[in-house]
Amino acid sequence: MQPQSQPTHMFDRLMPIVQRPHEVFVRGEAAWLWDVAGRRYLDWLQGWAVNALGHCPKEIQQALATQSGLLLTPSPALHNQPSLLLAERLCQLSGMHQVYFGSTGAEANECAIKLARKWGRLHRQGAFEIITFDNAFHGRNLGTMAASGKAGWDQLFPPNLPGFAKARLNDLASVRERIHDRTVAIMLEPVQGEAGVRPATPAFLQALRQLCYEHGLLLILDEVQTGCGRLGSMFAFQRYGVTPDIVTLGKGLGGGVPISAVLTQQHCSVFEAGDQGGTYAGNPLMCAASLSVLQTVSQPAFLSHVDEMGRLLASGLTLLSARHGLGEVRGDGLLWALELGTDTAPEVVRQCRQQGLLVNAARPHCLRLMPRLNSTPEEVQEGLAILGRVMAAL
Ligand SMILES: Cc1ncc(COP(=O)(O)O)c(C=O)c1O
Repeated sequence: MQPQSQPTHMFDRLMPIVQRPHEVFVRGEAAWLWDVAGRRYLDWLQGWAVNALGHCPKEIQQALATQSGLLLTPSPALHNQPSLLLAERLCQLSGMHQVYFGSTGAEANECAIKLARKWGRLHRQGAFEIITFDNAFHGRNLGTMAASGKAGWDQLFPPNLPGFAKARLNDLASVRERIHDRTVAIMLEPVQGEAGVRPATPAFLQALRQLCYEHGLLLILDEVQTGCGRLGSMFAFQRYGVTPDIVTLGKGLGGGVPISAVLTQQHCSVFEAGDQGGTYAGNPLMCAASLSVLQTVSQPAFLSHVDEMGRLLASGLTLLSARHGLGEVRGDGLLWALELGTDTAPEVVRQCRQQGLLVNAARPHCLRLMPRLNSTPEEVQEGLAILGRVMAAL
C-alpha cells in the first residue's frame, strides 16, 4: 500500500469538484448566512434556488422534528404516510396523475428518460431518442450529462450515453429537423437556468407542445429549477399555458432538503414493479419537509408576492444596467440574470461577497440571482445597493 500523503489544508480532503471561496459557513437564517468568523451575508444563491423559504425556516424545522420522532426510513418497499400525502398534493397542484420520488434533480431527470424510453418501447415501436437543447442542464449522472447541452461535456467521460439529439432553444425548425421514427420525446427546461436564465418563449413552448401532439411524442419539462414557485406560479408550465406529459421537480420542492419528483400524465405512466427505485425513494423525512414547504408556497398570495418581489428586483437591475452601461436583464419571478457585457462576473461575485452579498456567476459575463421566494422589499433594496456599489467601483 502507498503511504497516504498529508493534506496541506483541511479543504484538501474534499475532491476539488468546484472552486469554492475560503469562507466556511456555519449558520443560516431566512435571507442570511453567517461564516465562521461571524460575518453576515445576504444570500442570493439560496442553495442554488433551493431554499424557497430561505435558510432554516420554522416550517421545515418543525416538520423534520416531528417526523424524525415518528419514522425516518421504513424502506421504499413499504408505504409511508408523508409520501402518500405529498404525491396526492403534487397531483392536485399540477393536474398530473402519478408521482415517483427521488433525492436529486439528476435522479428525477434520469427517471423521466427511462420512462420515455419504456413508453417508446411499448407504444412507438422501440423509439428511444430524445430531442434536448444546446446549453441545457439536466444533471450530472451519465444519462443526464448526455441529455445536457453544456459545451465540452461530451469530452469528459466517454463513451457517452447515446439517444439524444440536440436542437436550439427557440428555434422550431431545428427541432423539426431532428424528428425521426426513433424520436420518442422532447425534453427541455422552460427557462435554462445554468445557461444564464434563458427562457423558452411562450410561442416556442406552445409550438413544441403542438409538435409533440402531431408526431406522437412526449413533452418532458425539467422544472427542477423553475418549479415550486420560483417563477411566481406553482409550476412554470402553468405560466406558459402548456400541459406537459412528464414534469421533473427538485431543488425548491424540498426547500433545503434533498427530494425530487417525476410527475406523469396517466397515458405515459408505464412503470411496473421492478422498473425503477432507490433506497431513499419517497423517504418520509424528506416528504414531510416538502409538504411543509408546499403548504406555504402553493398559497396564491405567496405566489403573488414572488411576482411582486421579482418586479422590484427586475426594475432595480434594469436601472443598474442603464446606469453602468451593462447588458440585458432576463428572468421571471425570482430567477434573474444580469448581463455584464464583459467577462467580469467572477470578479463581481468576489467583490459582492466582500461587501456581504452572495451571487452566482452563471456565465463569465452573466450574474444569476436567486433570492428566497419570501424576500422582503428591504432585502431586495439592500442587495441592489450592494450590487450598485460594486458596479460603481469596477
Ligand atoms: C434544470 C435543472 N435540472 C437538473 C438539475 C440537477 O439537479 P441536482 O443537482 O439536484 O441533481 C439542475 C441543477 O442545477 C437544474 O437546474
